[in-house]
This record gives sequence, structure tokens and C-alpha cells, in this order.
Amino acid sequence: MIARLQAWGRSYTNRGRYTPVGIVFHWVMAGLILFQIGWGFWTDWMMPGGDKVHAYQIHSAAGLPILLLAMGRIVWRMLIDDPYNDADTQGLQTKIAHGTAFLFYVTFFTLPLSGWIMWSSIAAPGPLYLGGIIPWPQIPLGEMPLERQFVILDLAEDVHIGSIVLLLLLIPAHAGAALKHHFWDRHDVLRGMLPEIPDWEDDRATRRHKRQAPDLPKESEAG
Ligand code: HEM
Ligand code: HEM
Repeated sequence: MIARLQAWGRSYTNRGRYTPVGIVFHWVMAGLILFQIGWGFWTDWMMPGGDKVHAYQIHSAAGLPILLLAMGRIVWRMLIDDPYNDADTQGLQTKIAHGTAFLFYVTFFTLPLSGWIMWSSIAAPGPLYLGGIIPWPQIPLGEMPLERQFVILDLAEDVHIGSIVLLLLLIPAHAGAALKHHFWDRHDVLRGMLPEIPDWEDDRATRRHKRQAPDLPKESEAG
């Protein structure tokens, strides 16, 4: 089973492409994280009250799936190697790209975990739900002495904000580098992270997509 999965993965990575699973992980998590950053700052800016609590409930519901997705993504990466493409031949740039990916993975854990800890310490604003539906437990911090809970809350808040600052530095650099590789260097790396669009000139695509004859006027109509 695993060997077949890996062979399927290689049918993409050998062509310098991420697998459809890798692509879905990347773009779903990127979308969720961008949403969380925007929504988090918007919520922080709101006046205290019921709406703000509700907004934080949405923030936690959308943020907790990132923890599970990150675990799934790590397992996937352990099973299926990344593709080797043009951008992997760039020496220091390649090392920086790998370092950036590693730091992204760190934030995929530090953000939801620190959020979960903040939510669980001192007067939690309400129950937690994964994706707004599945009940999610609180971390049992309530039994600790109050001073220790404050220390943990402070620390979790620092980790949350620190991770956000890190993301705000990494995301523009990462997206900028991807666009530079695509438009400036004409490398294949961004194409490998986008869904595959069947190409008429590509033999493999024509096997799946029947070529349509153009609608030419009949001889009698052509005059
Ligand atoms: C990748 C996931 C997440 C991202 C990108 C994110 C981002 C943010 C942002 C931008 C803020 C506003 C920071 C500020 O202006 O001070 C914030 C605050 C907050 N987030 Fe998250 N968050 C994530 C996950 C979570 C989760 C899963 C929870 C709860 C279970 C959570 C709970 C909170 C809380 C309680 C605050 C308020 C912190 C404070 O006022 O100091 N976050 N988050
Ligand atoms: C919140 C936003 C984003 C996050 C957290 C993120 C995260 C990541 C991570 C962790 C990887 C490593 C591959 C993997 O483990 O699957 C990666 C690869 C990649 N990302 Fe992003 N990404 C984001 C946004 C973007 C955007 C906006 C673009 C395009 C403009 C982009 C283009 C790419 C490309 C082309 C790769 C492949 C790089 C390579 O193989 O060396 N990403 N991204």
C-alpha cells in the first residue's frame, strides 16, 4: 500500500511537481493562515463585548484545524519526497528556502498550541470547537495556582505574537521568491505547486482529453 502510494507520488515528483495532496495541503493551509492573520488583527481591534468573543470563537475554530493539518502534512512529507526542481540548484537560496519551510512548520504548531493554551487559561471565553463543529477539550490549567496560570498565559501570548511576527516576515519573502523564480528566472517551481492544467501539446493530456475539431464552415457554406 505505502509502496504504491510512494510510486504514485514519484509519478509527480519525478516531473518536478508536488502531488495533488501536497498542493491541497499547501494552498488550504496558506489560505487558512492568511485568513487567521487578517481575522486575528481585526478581532484584536474590535471593541470589547459579545461580538469580539464571537469573533475569537471563529478565530479558534478556524485555527485549530491547522494543528491537525500540520500533523497530516508532516506524515505526508515523510512518505513522499519533495520534487527536485530548478530552484533546488541555487546553493544558498535553496538553503534559505528550506529554512523558511522549516520555520513555517514550526509556526503551524506554535500558533494553534499557544492559542489553545491562552484559551484554556484564566476564564476561558467559552467552549472550543474544531472547525466550529467538533467539540475540542480545554487544556486543564484551571487546577494550577493563579500566578502560574498568569505566567503561562503571558508566555503563550508572547509565543502567539512572536509566531505572527515571524509569519509576517516569512510570507512576503516566500511568496516574493516564488514569483521571482517564476517570472524572472523562468524556473518550474511555482508551476509545480499549482494544479496541473492539461496541455493540448502534451501527449499525456490528449490521452485523457479528446481533441475537439474547430467549428469550420461546411464547404457549401464557405462560398
Ligand atoms: C495559524 C493559526 C493562527 C494564526 C495565524 C493566529 C493569528 C492571530 C492574530 C494575528 C492575532 C492578533 C494579535 C494581536 O493583535 O495582538 C491573534 C490573537 C489571538 N489568537 Fe490567534 N492565531 C491562530 C490560531 C489560534 C488558535 C487555534 C486560537 C485558540 C484556540 C487562537 C487564539 C487567539 C487568542 C486568544 C488571541 C488574543 C491574544 C491577545 O489578545 O493577546 N489563535 N491570533
Ligand atoms: C501563508 C502562506 C504560505 C505558507 C504558510 C506557505 C508554506 C509553504 C511550505 C511549508 C512549503 C514547503 C513545501 C511543503 O512542505 O509542502 C511551501 C512551498 C512552496 N510555496 Fe508556499 N506558502 C505560503 C504561500 C505561498 C504563496 C502565496 C506562493 C506563491 C506566490 C507560494 C509558493 C510556493 C512554492 C512555489 C513552493 C515550492 C517551493 C520549493 O519546492 O522549493 N507559497 N510553502
